Amino acid sequence: MAMTTKKDKHKFFNPNFSTLEPYVPGKQINDSEYLKLNTNENPFGPSPRVKETIIKFLEKSESLLRLYPEPESDSLREVIAKKFSIKSNQVFIGNGSDEVLSLCFLSFFAGRGCLSFPELTYSFYPSIAKLFKIPFSTFQLKKDFFLDLTNIDRNSQSVIFPNPNAITGIALPVDEIDRFVKENPDKLIIIDEAYADFSKGSCVSLINNYPNILVIQTFSKSRGMAGLRVGFCFGSHTLIDGLRAVKNSFNSYPVDALASLAAISAINDDVWFEDNIDNIVETRSYFSQELKKIGFRVLPSSANFVLVTHPSYKADILKNHLFKNKILVRQFPETRVSNWLRITIGKREECDLLLSILKQKISEAN
Ligand SMILES: Cc1ncc(COP(=O)(O)O)c(C=O)c1O
Repeated sequence: MAMTTKKDKHKFFNPNFSTLEPYVPGKQINDSEYLKLNTNENPFGPSPRVKETIIKFLEKSESLLRLYPEPESDSLREVIAKKFSIKSNQVFIGNGSDEVLSLCFLSFFAGRGCLSFPELTYSFYPSIAKLFKIPFSTFQLKKDFFLDLTNIDRNSQSVIFPNPNAITGIALPVDEIDRFVKENPDKLIIIDEAYADFSKGSCVSLINNYPNILVIQTFSKSRGMAGLRVGFCFGSHTLIDGLRAVKNSFNSYPVDALASLAAISAINDDVWFEDNIDNIVETRSYFSQELKKIGFRVLPSSANFVLVTHPSYKADILKNHLFKNKILVRQFPETRVSNWLRITIGKREECDLLLSILKQKISEAN
């Protein structure tokens, strides 16, 4: 058999393939013995109404599964629009916010010059930019890891950042973002609010004031539905129409019938939602304090995770020690945070378990 060279191997691929750097998600271990505090899932799962909806769906599954779902997820769009007091033509729904992000990159960033995002952020952004050949530059954070919007390259045509920022959990006040969007009418700005429900502010209302902002949210974190894949975004009618045109050139039915119905029941359960957020925010504050008591530096988080480092212990030693004790946390390769660990806020007892393991490790060494 003839030898295959590296060049031969990719001869049937898009030439862009050689420069791809696919995003590497946190480990998904399907072993319930492990405590997963590595991918910012909600420790409580979704509202009980979601389970009721799924059971009802199963009873009618033959007729419901036979048909294609609503192409534009109209029923879910209506419910979301009502909840956020906007019009349904200002809402777009996708298969998780990762898909919404990809479609936004293709619709609004590709072919429009340079994109800027923070040096430390959600590492899916450079992967999508490379896929669509979007040139990008990164802007530096302040010494204390806060975003510094004055560092954004003036020549960039588009900007994206999560608020709160991914990896750090630090949020910028909405009025600062408001000013930035207003002062940069020629830049398209996307705020990724995957974690905004755990913070004090959302930029959704800005979509009524400015034509150059989109805000993306997800059911994966605050609504505990990462397994069902529903994400959504808000923007002007014009931007949303453009996004729909691109979606319909790619996949007409990105959100399945079950996920849509489940998302509707999740969004309608305000009481569960508020309780869940309060619980996670309270545990975050307790957990941060306890970590500080044993010497950790903890960044001020407005998300459902904390980024922490210890002056006397290397992050990979602590991560491996936790792994041996069947707890998963996440470490990132970027130099500035390579000695930090990102830990998802779990249930109070889960955080206590992690704390007790770390306390024991630290006391053994002293
Ligand atoms: C900042 C940020 N945006 C978007 C996502 C994607 O969320 P999903 O695709 O589950 O909606 C994540 C997931 O961790 C994230 O951290």
